[in-house]
Amino acid sequence: MAKSIKELNLKGKKLFIRVDFNVPVKDGVVKDDTRIVEALKSIRYAKNEGAKVILASHLGRPKGEKVTEMSLEPVAKYITDNFFPCTFATDCIGDVAKTAIDKLNDGDVILLENLRYHKGEEKNFPEFAAELASLADVYVNDAFGTCHRKHASTYGMAEIMVEKGAGFLVEKEIKYFEGLLQQPARPFGAIVGGAKVSDKIGVIKSLMELADKIFVGGAMAYTFLKYNGKTIGTSMVEADQMDIVAEVYAAAKQKQVQIFLPLDHTIASEFNGAPLDCTEEDIPDGFMGLDIGSKTIDLYVGELNKCKTVLWNGPMGVFENPDYAKGTFAIADALGAGEAIVVVGGGDSVAAVNQAGVSDNIDHISTGGGASLEYIEFGKLPGIEILG
Ligand code: 3PG
Repeated sequence: MAKSIKELNLKGKKLFIRVDFNVPVKDGVVKDDTRIVEALKSIRYAKNEGAKVILASHLGRPKGEKVTEMSLEPVAKYITDNFFPCTFATDCIGDVAKTAIDKLNDGDVILLENLRYHKGEEKNFPEFAAELASLADVYVNDAFGTCHRKHASTYGMAEIMVEKGAGFLVEKEIKYFEGLLQQPARPFGAIVGGAKVSDKIGVIKSLMELADKIFVGGAMAYTFLKYNGKTIGTSMVEADQMDIVAEVYAAAKQKQVQIFLPLDHTIASEFNGAPLDCTEEDIPDGFMGLDIGSKTIDLYVGELNKCKTVLWNGPMGVFENPDYAKGTFAIADALGAGEAIVVVGGGDSVAAVNQAGVSDNIDHISTGGGASLEYIEFGKLPGIEILG
């Protein structure tokens, strides 16, 4: 069991906090600060305890190259402008980082440049992990969104560090996901959407052991519908996933899990074409499904209202286009208004609850996309396991 940041002696110590500041940045401006705000509790605590706070993160996937658009400098500026002074080091290792860290007083905060500018980060090279470890006395991981990665900053350096623990955000995420995995209030409904069955199959199989009802939406629903002999027109489909869907149905039968599929759709003759109602399960030739329809919304919302726990991962349609957003927002509204314990994970569904304006009524909105799926699938994450 990982120690909490609260159990670590931080006074006067150089504290390395691995945060997940993989936030959208456009033209040097932070567009969504959710992940920054979620890390503030640990940072403020460490400042107040008198630590010299060293923040480190990746941003994007620069693959070992210095890609200017993926610099974390705008994030340091954003923190300084909105919360507290945060200096910036133009490299995360070596003399640049060490010299900047040496200038810190107790309670000061510095953000290091993108860890993934070095190949050693994603490849977890021991030399790179040792360089990172040499910067600090104490290590805290508060980067839940990256805890599924066995990288130098999330795993290799944690192996080296003796004094280490979990930050408040990681603790909060674990609390909610353990609640889902261990003793969820029942019925437990899981909404699984998004484009591909193949991306979500691990989590769908795990949900067979956990959930009572599964609601399928997004493009992956057309693969399920095709498996059930429905016509799906030109909708997106993964023809090579039929055996997997068969396995899902076999598991559902054995575990008595109910699988719900769309009864009707919003369709168009082309992507971003004019929306039409299709009141049947079958989609006519020449049309593609782009959202769930009104009958499906009524069915899903009615069933979700009977659930005591709900997990939501993945939108019901192409909700970036308002013409195909009705299903996703109807689910978001229903979850916001309902009584169930609701956990939302995955970037798109998080964006949906935020855009629907119901995020304050959701019990837990995870900062992890891939991490939350892997936590459900495996019940653990390497970045958390290595903390002890
Ligand atoms: C995320 O956005 O899910 C995390 O920051 C992890 O990013 P990655 O998928 O590039 O490792």
